[in-house]
Amino acid sequence: MAKIPVDYRDYFEFTMERLGKEGLLLVTTDPDGNANAMTIGWGVIGIVWRKPVFTVLVRPSRYTYDLLEQATEFSVNVPEQAMANDVALCGSLSGRDGDKFARTSMTTTGADEISVPVIEQCPINYQCKIIHKTDMAPETVPDNINNMFYKNRDNYHRIYFGEIVACYADEEFDLKANF
Ligand SMILES: Cc1cc2nc3c(=O)[nH]c(=O)nc-3n(C[C@H](O)[C@H](O)[C@H](O)COP(=O)(O)O)c2cc1C
Repeated sequence: MAKIPVDYRDYFEFTMERLGKEGLLLVTTDPDGNANAMTIGWGVIGIVWRKPVFTVLVRPSRYTYDLLEQATEFSVNVPEQAMANDVALCGSLSGRDGDKFARTSMTTTGADEISVPVIEQCPINYQCKIIHKTDMAPETVPDNINNMFYKNRDNYHRIYFGEIVACYADEEFDLKANF
């Protein structure tokens, strides 16, 4: 799949559509460079400090959290609907228990602006450098959200702000066919 550089806004709508359905794939690496993919259903693309930013929310219980705590970069990969099984697998298994990529048909390939790889089969890849992280303030969370997502009042998400330093899309990607 040949990829070309695109503006980070070009596939915003499609990215949000996939985020709200099966989810996107957040890729991080361990200190030896081994990649792990985690499914995310929450995230924000916007502008902060005059920079384009992809914000992701990760619970401390995730292996991805451990990796992000030692990392400076991550990639966010937008899968096609046809990849739903692999996305579900990355959202149910933990990288702590083995290499998830080995159990999927997905492969990684090097990125140009970050050392973390991107997923080849995903038609859109965002390359991000972490410029800030912050924890949720539990005392500010409304009861309805607490009751739905934080029943035990723990495992509140850490929020990572990744400056989008590059965005690539499959040059033959047919947006209409994929919506
Ligand atoms: C559709 C979907 C969306 C998810 N979104 C998130 C998310 O935004 N943040 C998060 O911490 N976990 C999220 N998860 C849960 C993780 O993907 C899941 O716990 C995964 O197994 C963690 O992998 P890891 O331990 O290798 O990091 C989501 C799971 C699914 C199925």
